Amino acid sequence: MLEFKNISFKYDEDPDFIIKNLSFKVNKGEFISIVGPSGCGKSTIFRLICKLEKPFEGDIFLEGRNINTLKGGYIGYMPQNDLLIPWRTILQNSSLPLEIKGGDIKKARHEAEKMLQDFGLEKYKDKFPKDLSGGMRQRVSFTRTLLTGSKVLLLDEPFSALDAITRLSMQEWLLDKWSKLNKTILFITHDVEEALFLSTRIFVTDGSPIRKFKEIKMNLGYPRKRDMIDTPDILKVKSKLIEELKKGAKF
Ligand SMILES: Nc1ncnc2c1ncn2[C@@H]1O[C@H](COP(=O)(O)OP(=O)(O)OP(=O)(O)O)[C@@H](O)[C@H]1O
Ligand SMILES: [Mg+2]
Repeated sequence: MLEFKNISFKYDEDPDFIIKNLSFKVNKGEFISIVGPSGCGKSTIFRLICKLEKPFEGDIFLEGRNINTLKGGYIGYMPQNDLLIPWRTILQNSSLPLEIKGGDIKKARHEAEKMLQDFGLEKYKDKFPKDLSGGMRQRVSFTRTLLTGSKVLLLDEPFSALDAITRLSMQEWLLDKWSKLNKTILFITHDVEEALFLSTRIFVTDGSPIRKFKEIKMNLGYPRKRDMIDTPDILKVKSKLIEELKKGAKF
């Protein structure tokens, strides 16, 4: 579904590469979490997939096609902060990707309204982002990402600003949507437990520059239950992961 082939990247003003000769593949329908220390380049990986940055070397393929040949709207990107537009209502925020694509605004709003309804958000449709809780804003943001119509969704720490309980229910909500909507998800998180609970595979960065991911395959079925990640085997994986992250931390 998505392939990185020998990607190297550095920011112009930075002397060092933050990604060096990185290759990986993501299969259709997977839920991949990317875990790594702060500042190692995880968000940059998403920015490369969205063509917000250009690789120094290497190519990125989506369904076998080089992304350089693809037009806008090929990917659903939910950046690290929710970025809802404050002066647009929830409905107007949600319909934005469809409006940008140049469709009929009325039709776009209708489609967005349907999805807000599916997600239990329709009663907020005429409110503004400031009127919603953090969890709800994230749901709206996710709705907007889905309405891009893309098969691959990039979610950059979508739940990091939420309190612990809201976060747990959002994880379940997201898994439910993922299993129903047949999407491929790449999900950045600092939360090891979150990665264990959600993923089909976890990619762990191996320090700076990122050269290769260590992969952890989660041999657990869905629907996931919390106690599935409390087994001795998974707890071992968890402490290894935490060790790995501590090693890579810069401070
Ligand atoms: N637009 C930019 N221009 C120059 N340097 C940047 C830019 N964006 C990020 N960087 C630098 O590149 C490195 C990687 O940044 P990135 O945002 O990809 O890290 P991250 O792994 O997502 O971190 P975090 O977990 O804190 O979100 C950092 O050292 C950062 O300071
Ligand atoms: Mg980041």
